[in-house]
Amino acid sequence: MTGVGDMDAGRRRFFRFLAGSLVLTPAARALAQQLAATPPASLASAAEALQVMDFEEAARRTLPPAHWGYLATGADDGQTIQTNLDGFKRIGLRPRRLVDVSKTDTAVEIFGQRWETPLFICPAGGQRAFHRDGELATAKAARAKGHAMILSSVSTYSVEDVAQALGAPPWQQLYMPLKWADTEKIIKRIEDAGCPVLVWTIDLLGGRNTPTQTRFARQDTRNCLACHQGRGGAPIYRPMYDGLDAQVNPSDATWATFDRLKSLTRMKVVLKGVDNPEDAQLAVRHGVDGLIVSNHGGRSMETLRASIDCLPEVMAAVKGRVPVLVDGGVRHGADIYKALALGARGVGIGRPYLWGLSAYGQEGVERVLDILRAEFNLTLRQMGTPAIKDITAARLARA
Ligand code: FNR
Repeated sequence: MTGVGDMDAGRRRFFRFLAGSLVLTPAARALAQQLAATPPASLASAAEALQVMDFEEAARRTLPPAHWGYLATGADDGQTIQTNLDGFKRIGLRPRRLVDVSKTDTAVEIFGQRWETPLFICPAGGQRAFHRDGELATAKAARAKGHAMILSSVSTYSVEDVAQALGAPPWQQLYMPLKWADTEKIIKRIEDAGCPVLVWTIDLLGGRNTPTQTRFARQDTRNCLACHQGRGGAPIYRPMYDGLDAQVNPSDATWATFDRLKSLTRMKVVLKGVDNPEDAQLAVRHGVDGLIVSNHGGRSMETLRASIDCLPEVMAAVKGRVPVLVDGGVRHGADIYKALALGARGVGIGRPYLWGLSAYGQEGVERVLDILRAEFNLTLRQMGTPAIKDITAARLARA
């Protein structure tokens, strides 16, 4: 029987043959050359992946349609996803030469915690839809590789279980319940678990439209009632909302709600989903401890600006008073570098580690983290800025 790997090798051999064929026009030869070089459609192992994008196709092949749709979807036509990616491509690098780069230093400190790397794991809900070990596999990978992890409040394993797998309480993301009494209960639970930081996501308070997710769900012929309930397909594994009304994201939330949340907890409170200087300034005035510049990986709204393009404005408004982190469209070590050069203290990934998780569980997440770190270290050396403190905006060229 022919394996998928053999077919991919055969396909690439065929395109290489066409690329060398004089019968074709130059344009067709160039296309064949490009197709011959595309990454393998499937991976024989996590170790075989050369770039994080190699995991995307592997995940698509592994997941049932509805779960792939949940992972891949953006808002509306998904333009904001593409804009996030393009934002990084529009920024060029300006390296310096003849600098001793034999030793690199990638350590960062955020809220008194020291990390070996600025690359952190973004919160993502429902990870058992991607792999049976879900958030536990992600936490074990984050622990093995020394990365900060933010746990989603719509996780499929509880914060207590994840803290054990991670070896320390994670930062905890919050989708605020509709009822304030439920917010008080969930905050108490998160505090009792020992989480040092609460990350309130504020970019879905008006709702969202994700047709790609619905389209893929319609193709799924499995009986989903074992894991979902009701016609809306609401997940039943949401341990953080046990005993609470699982409805979240109050559309009447305002800065007064933030004040109330802030005075409810002794945890650091970070806002996720800020993308402009006006809100950044207000947040600092209201006593925020940190910000994550994010558009939810293009899942909140259509035609938003790239996260990386919003970062400089937010940095200018914050003026160093609180740490600013960023996520959205990070796929290469050079992207991490660019975000740091524009002032970010930490740089997050969502889909890349979820692709790794989907295809290979913990091992896949570890490989994604390894690839990005290796690429980032390479960029540091090649840029002539061996330590994070050496990176400045002067090393970037904006088109
Ligand atoms: C997310 N994201 C997210 N954000 C959040 O605050 N709470 C959540 O529960 C989720 N859930 C979630 C599920 C899935 C499947 C994805 C892909 C994303 C957004 C996430 O934290 C992050 O902002 C983006 O994923 C970053 O963009 P990239 O790296 O996916 O391009």
